[in-house]
Amino acid sequence: MLTFPAFSSGSIQISSNQAASAVVLVTCLVLLVVSRLTPQLTFIWYCFVHPLTGAKDQKARLDKFYEGQADVYDATRRGLLRGRKTMLNLSAGHLRTLRANCPDKRLVWVDIGGGTGHNIELMDQFLPISSFDAVYLIDLCEPLLQVARKRFAQRGWTNVHILCQDASDFVLPEWQNSSSVDPKGSVGFVTLSYSLSMIPNFYNLLDRIDHVLSPQEGLLGVVDFYTAGKNASLHEKAIGGESKECGWISRWFWQIWFDFDNVHLSPARRSYLEYRFGTIKSYNGRNRFVLPFIVRIPYYIWLGRPRTADISKSCHVFEVEGGNTIGNCSPASSINVTKEIDSTSVPPLELGFPITEQQSESNAVIVNITPPLSSFHYQVNKPWRLPYYEHPVHKEFRTFVYSFTWEDPYVDVMHLELSKDDSMFVITSAGDNALHYAIAASPRTIHCVDMNPCQGHLLELKLAAMQSLDYADFFALFGEGYHPNFRYLLDSKIAPHLSSSAYQFWRINVDAFTTPSKSFYLHGYSGWALKLARFIFTIAGVRTDVERLCECETLDKQVQIWQQKLRPVLLNPVIVALMRNPVFCWNALGVPMNQRRMLLDEGSVYEYVRDTMDPLLSTYLLKTENYFYLLCLLGHYTPTSCPLYLTHSGFKTLKANEGSAANSFRLHTDSIYNVLRGLNSWSLTRALIMDHLDWFTVNSKDVDEEVTQLARVVAPGGFVFWRSAAKHPWYNEVFERSKFRVEAVAIRTGSEVALDKVNMYASFWKATKL
Ligand SMILES: C[S@@+](CC[C@H](N)C(=O)[O-])C[C@H]1O[C@@H](n2cnc3c(N)ncnc32)[C@H](O)[C@@H]1O
Repeated sequence: MLTFPAFSSGSIQISSNQAASAVVLVTCLVLLVVSRLTPQLTFIWYCFVHPLTGAKDQKARLDKFYEGQADVYDATRRGLLRGRKTMLNLSAGHLRTLRANCPDKRLVWVDIGGGTGHNIELMDQFLPISSFDAVYLIDLCEPLLQVARKRFAQRGWTNVHILCQDASDFVLPEWQNSSSVDPKGSVGFVTLSYSLSMIPNFYNLLDRIDHVLSPQEGLLGVVDFYTAGKNASLHEKAIGGESKECGWISRWFWQIWFDFDNVHLSPARRSYLEYRFGTIKSYNGRNRFVLPFIVRIPYYIWLGRPRTADISKSCHVFEVEGGNTIGNCSPASSINVTKEIDSTSVPPLELGFPITEQQSESNAVIVNITPPLSSFHYQVNKPWRLPYYEHPVHKEFRTFVYSFTWEDPYVDVMHLELSKDDSMFVITSAGDNALHYAIAASPRTIHCVDMNPCQGHLLELKLAAMQSLDYADFFALFGEGYHPNFRYLLDSKIAPHLSSSAYQFWRINVDAFTTPSKSFYLHGYSGWALKLARFIFTIAGVRTDVERLCECETLDKQVQIWQQKLRPVLLNPVIVALMRNPVFCWNALGVPMNQRRMLLDEGSVYEYVRDTMDPLLSTYLLKTENYFYLLCLLGHYTPTSCPLYLTHSGFKTLKANEGSAANSFRLHTDSIYNVLRGLNSWSLTRALIMDHLDWFTVNSKDVDEEVTQLARVVAPGGFVFWRSAAKHPWYNEVFERSKFRVEAVAIRTGSEVALDKVNMYASFWKATKL
């Protein structure tokens, strides 16, 4: 009997049997915890405690490092080596695209530093291992290879081969057989998963991969930790690298930390990789390992292809059709880009500098060979997006301003007289109207222009999703504004059609489509207006009336609900005062100061809201005819009320013939003026510049310059259209001075007639180039 006097009121008495049970229980618990944590404890011991000194070479170092932990390797790396699954999923999609024209060509995959073979097993989910003619796992560490051998034996894969070799001079058996294959260009796919940072001779390794990778269809996939240099180089800016920068603590800490395990994170490896190969995709993430708020290890996922890949089509599209010469001065570039002599530095390349002007410049030299071609040049699908350098001004656009386009394209098409021979110039916005014109008439070229890269990312996503998804998924994304599997669709299907920049943006902003309670249309700046409308309707207790309004089958019923329930709310003095507020005008409605002034010159805010809304509600049924206001009221579209690109037939038209109607898209990330400067004279036949001239101050020289460029680029007989908050905008006269004939398409006269389904502008103008 054991007695614990300290507890006695009397004292607690425990029999020896009970004590023995307690000891057994505690021992079992300890054993359970230890057995559960054995993999982690082994990992901690070998990675952080076990001394790595005395190994004479890389092989000895690796064997010593991994021999005691090979069996627990896979279990302990799941959270640490992030992005492996994404890299493989992305690679599978890109490989399919790259090999679309030669599906029967021999396909060999070399997984370098493949360790336990975990990635090869994982890849089977995305691209069956049986679809490869041969898979080679190359690694120098025998203990890890033993795990791989067992794994592959269990799977019964006869086309997977393990080679214990140093990666920097790896040799495939098929290069040595009697019926030898020429190593040059013989490999279709190479992966480096957390191995590039470990392989000492990385220059040799990457040169060798470049030599053996197929020039046209070859793909290199890399995932690894990294740290970035202090300032992004011009080449890095051309590739684009959202979130690539590392703070100095992060940069130094992770380099030193990983150096203990012979993992090298200095920027040299990644820089050489991106120099040697053309970048297809690049994503920078942070691994919040174990302690999410403290540990944020930078890692990247990167896909690339040999610089010998034929990118002449992209160069033609960008430089000849698009007047865009960004990032074209690579050692491999076939185009001599010339500039003024500048003895001190390489002059910055300007966006949209006309090629003809460059060639005619005197006293010119060939620009230095840096930087190599941008990631846009190596896109594996249609070259919709034109290259741009990341610019400080882009930081002001952290997201998209417009998630939908706020002008009526049906009215545009009535006046555009569009045909297949037309070349158009439009402001990108959310791309809805550009897609409408493509469906309506399939014009030859549609230049979509926006300073805000996120607007380009949005239109790219629409184009890419249209090419890669079926209608139900597409409508869920852009009709309902919600798709729980967006992340999976993005990586597996949509990504091969996206530029690297657009992929990065959507990967970071996945939740724009995956938050059940918040439709995509409630994101971005325009989302604030929709959220505010919801809030006002909730406070006013008319949410159900809003739903009833959107369900009305007749105009009479619609007008009745409007007049009795919603009009008193929207024309309430508090709401009218809010709409007068310049901060609200800009942030929620996207109306800048100058335009607001024009609007107020035409009448009061009360009159403006009344003249906008009354005729709309009495002319168009929300349920079937006016998708603009239906979206604002409901936060999503419906199959009966949505933009043309979201209808079954519009979607089918854009997808038909491998998306040939979408081939016309050229997405520029620059100012209207700069893009116009890059285009050849008389190369446009139609331009729609929305209401953007309203944004300038009266008599601004910028308007003169822009209209002068329009006059140069629009061919005689071509049209320019614009809308304005003023009934007679001051800048009409600038067009007339520049040899345009200007005529009103429509001018608002009061609250009787709606000019179109948006009815927010006071006038709509057409200028014909004489
Ligand atoms: C961090 S592990 C990654 C393993 C595996 N790719 C993964 O993602 O789980 C790095 C691998 O690179 C291998 N490695 C390092 N240096 C090597 C070299 N010179 N030649 C071949 N393999 C090497 C190591 O043996 C190890 O398997």
